[in-house]
Amino acid sequence: MSSVVRYELIDNIGIITIDNPPVNALSQALRQGLLDVVTAAQKDASEALVLLCAGRTFIAGADITEFGKPPQSPSLPEVLAVLENSRKLIVAAMHGTALGGGFETALACHYRCAVPSAHVGLPEVKLGLLPGAGGTQRVTRLAGVKAALEIIINGNPLSAAEAAELNLLDEVLPDENLREGAIAYARDLVDSGALLKRVRDISIDPGALEPGFFANYRLRLAERARGQIAPDRIVTAVEAAVTLPMEHGLIRERDLFLELLHSPQSRAMRHIFFAEREAAKIRDLPADTPLRDIRHVAVVGGGTMGGGIAMCFANAGIPVTLLEISSEALERGLGIVRKNYATSVQKGRMSEAEMQQRLQLITGSADYADLAQVDLVIEAVFENPDIKKDVFRRLDAVCKSGAILASNTSYQNIDEIAAVTSRPQDVLGMHFFSPANVMKLLEVVRGEKTSHEVLATAMQVGRRIGKICALSRVCYGFIGNRMLTGYARQAHMLLLDGATPAQVDGVAEDFGMAMGPLAVSDLAGLDIGYKARQAREAAGEVLDPATHCVASALVEMGRLGQKAGAGYYRYDPQTRARQSDPQVEALIREHAARLGIPQREISREEILARLFYPLINEGARILEEGIAQRPGDIDIVYVYGYAFPAAKGGPMFHADEIGLSTVYEGILRFGLELGETYWQPAPLLAQLARSGSSFAQWDAARRD
Ligand code: 3HC
Ligand code: NAI
Repeated sequence: MSSVVRYELIDNIGIITIDNPPVNALSQALRQGLLDVVTAAQKDASEALVLLCAGRTFIAGADITEFGKPPQSPSLPEVLAVLENSRKLIVAAMHGTALGGGFETALACHYRCAVPSAHVGLPEVKLGLLPGAGGTQRVTRLAGVKAALEIIINGNPLSAAEAAELNLLDEVLPDENLREGAIAYARDLVDSGALLKRVRDISIDPGALEPGFFANYRLRLAERARGQIAPDRIVTAVEAAVTLPMEHGLIRERDLFLELLHSPQSRAMRHIFFAEREAAKIRDLPADTPLRDIRHVAVVGGGTMGGGIAMCFANAGIPVTLLEISSEALERGLGIVRKNYATSVQKGRMSEAEMQQRLQLITGSADYADLAQVDLVIEAVFENPDIKKDVFRRLDAVCKSGAILASNTSYQNIDEIAAVTSRPQDVLGMHFFSPANVMKLLEVVRGEKTSHEVLATAMQVGRRIGKICALSRVCYGFIGNRMLTGYARQAHMLLLDGATPAQVDGVAEDFGMAMGPLAVSDLAGLDIGYKARQAREAAGEVLDPATHCVASALVEMGRLGQKAGAGYYRYDPQTRARQSDPQVEALIREHAARLGIPQREISREEILARLFYPLINEGARILEEGIAQRPGDIDIVYVYGYAFPAAKGGPMFHADEIGLSTVYEGILRFGLELGETYWQPAPLLAQLARSGSSFAQWDAARRD
């Protein structure tokens, strides 16, 4: 008997129970156990078999930790062939999330049932893969070509009811009692003389599709998939389901799966999967660190960020008080929140009732006394240290003992903010990204004195509101914005050297960034950086004009970015589409001439390296200073906070892929060629590059 697959006979029904915590992933032991049990059950007194799982979920997929290692027999397709060919009827009984290879296992059974709360899906695309154990062939046969393409290319799970609607489930059980419900269902099937239904026997009518369907689909997809190869291969596999007999379709699917499995894109996306889970763990925090109960939250400042943050809590069902400086400011802030929800209702993303429910959870206030009993406060007032300190003094005076006081500051020093309170152990940074109700990242900033309990609670609250959390120590700009400085600086300097805004952004976007750096500046508003520079200059700093002169000139011309209809680009008032502007190109030439910078043709390779090497270099400094816990955490910050392509695995993973010596030598070369002082390799980068090591190896050695 296998340690992860149990078998028992209850009257005429054989019950196969998979028990492989935490998520019943299809490890080698599980595959072998399942094969053995199903083979043995062919000879016993059972008349039907029920396949179900112990623990929190049905099989959640292949064991991702086995990917990239030598294959171990039996393969999943071999096991599923045995299930499908079983002479005894097999019912898959699902709860939790039946995903990837897990759902494919269910699809190879003869009948599928699930409790109402179950979800099923094929999320392989999120790992840069496609379903490699019959999913593309069987879902297409059951749900049809169009539904199959959508399900497999989006990779999002379906509820039991939706899956039943699409013919992917035969029965939604009456309640959450999986075992009893499934046994009763199997008995009914036996008693009614139900046939062995094999999905492979369903035929697809290719004539039902309009001519050129797949070619057209691919064209539309190219736009959506942005350089990712898995979606294209999924179309090929689904097309094979239509044009080839099942056994050949399965072979085609497997070949495509193996191609993707060995692709750099999938390697990168698998790295992101594990890095995301790892980032949630704080290395020096004991596992039994107590958590504080967070039932009611307050947000101070209802502007761009505060309103979005309040929505995050309301969306998670947590009551929130939004405090503004005056009733007019409060009304403006609440108005924007209402408008955002109304847009979601209009777009069909939320019902009117849901909107009302969420709005009821948000209470406005202009009186600090209303915050006396809240468990967590997030400050999101103007980015001004004196105003922030004033807010924290007031919070310290009114909030109950044990309340957590967080700042959403982008740059201010959390330790200095904590120092104005009598409870620095309860103070930390919770840095959301704009728009706060949409962006997945939450940088949790650990102050010098922040307590373990407060940190652990902030990470847990982040997860409760659906964020992906990464921990940063205190420094100017924390992980994400600090790294961005060199990237943005080079974007600007490339213009003076002769690249156009469209060339700089085009290279970043071809690499996979959602938007290039200059288009992002236009979106955020060029005045933000302008004001920050003014403040630094007022404090006595002397700034290098080559890093900002064009940006400053644009602001002074009233070209503040998208909101003004013009910035680095001109924007179509209707469509917001960006257009290159000869006036900006002339302005750049003028500034280059004034600074004595000769303009030249700049290659794509140079643009790419000059944008991303500074990002990687600063990441290395952040690691050696202990600001980030691990290289993977930096990757998570970039993928979820700055739309760095997951298919490239984040800046630090990408650096390992291209080789640290390439990056290091590139930085030295730019230092010599460009004569700029910015090209100083981080000591850690230099050390790893010289010893032929990588960030991943450095991190693994620290863990041992
Ligand atoms: N393989 C190996 N480990 C896995 C895993 C998998 N498929 N799925 C989850 N885990 C691990 C996680 O790494 C985590 O480990 P840790 O505790 O050491 O950090 C642990 O299981 C718990 O996972 P989560 O923290 O994610 O738990 P949640 O309850 O939040 O989520 C889940 C559960 C929805 C199942 C989520 O883990 C998930 O989405 N898993 C991946 C599902 C997936 O992508 N399946 C397809 C795999 S590819 C495939 O099947 C190929 C096939 O077509 C041949
Ligand atoms: P904003 O200017 O849109 O909103 C600030 C709000 O705070 C205003 O509505 C103002 O009335 C209110 N306010 C000012 N003083 C107050 C006080 N004493 N009490 C109560 N309310 C007060 O600013 P935004 O963009 O929302 O930024 C807020 C904070 O979030 C800043 O620290 C900023 O650095 C940070 N941040 C901003 C991001 C962005 O993209 N805008 C991204 C991440 C963080």
